[in-house]
Amino acid sequence: MIIAPSILAADFSNLSDEIIRADVAGADWIHLDVMDGHFVPNLTFGPPVVAAVRQYTDKPFDVHLMIDEPLRYLPDFLRAGADIVTFHAEADSNPEKTIDAILEGGAKPSAAVKPNTPVDCLLPYLDRLFMVLVMTVEPGFGGQKFMPEVLPKVRALKERKPDLLVEVDGGINPRTVREAALAGVDACVAGTAVFGAKDMQAAIGQLKEAGDIAQF
Ligand code: DX5
Ligand code: ZN
Repeated sequence: MIIAPSILAADFSNLSDEIIRADVAGADWIHLDVMDGHFVPNLTFGPPVVAAVRQYTDKPFDVHLMIDEPLRYLPDFLRAGADIVTFHAEADSNPEKTIDAILEGGAKPSAAVKPNTPVDCLLPYLDRLFMVLVMTVEPGFGGQKFMPEVLPKVRALKERKPDLLVEVDGGINPRTVREAALAGVDACVAGTAVFGAKDMQAAIGQLKEAGDIAQF
């Protein structure tokens, strides 16, 4: 199970140290939650912050764009060092053009669906996507409760394209990571469960172990 700690739950006054800490503690990817205060009712950070912390880890930057007009801001996030770029199917951006731009920028394209959005809208693009992010909370905030009712979407995606990577995001802990793994999930974002842990290495190890056991 790939574990991608979300820096939304990190100490924003010490982001570089927090990213180094997550890297050393065993994070596979670093999940960066970009919010514009329009697409979601919260505002976090943009390309300058992504660029500022890029130098502190070689782990892939899994950039989650919870923004309107992702296509417009894409070049800045690619320049800032995004490795995986997730745009939302609900955002006003032509998916085909957005995927093209991510690929042209040398990054991996990923598309996200909110809990109430069926995956049908993404089916035409599955062959061009590196990953689909199935939100297990309403996007905008960390520390929310996992929504198991979205897990059938994971199975539907895996049936359509078994080699597609599927990531879930929101409310992941050692219990819910097992449910996610049993549904066929490959990657889990975890904010509170990692940055809120006393022992980050133990927390990541526990998530990996719980996820790996359920995967086989
Ligand atoms: C929510 C973000 C999630 C969130 C996860 O909009 O996309 O990545 O930070 O936080 P936890 O793991 O605390 O639910
Ligand atoms: Zn996220």
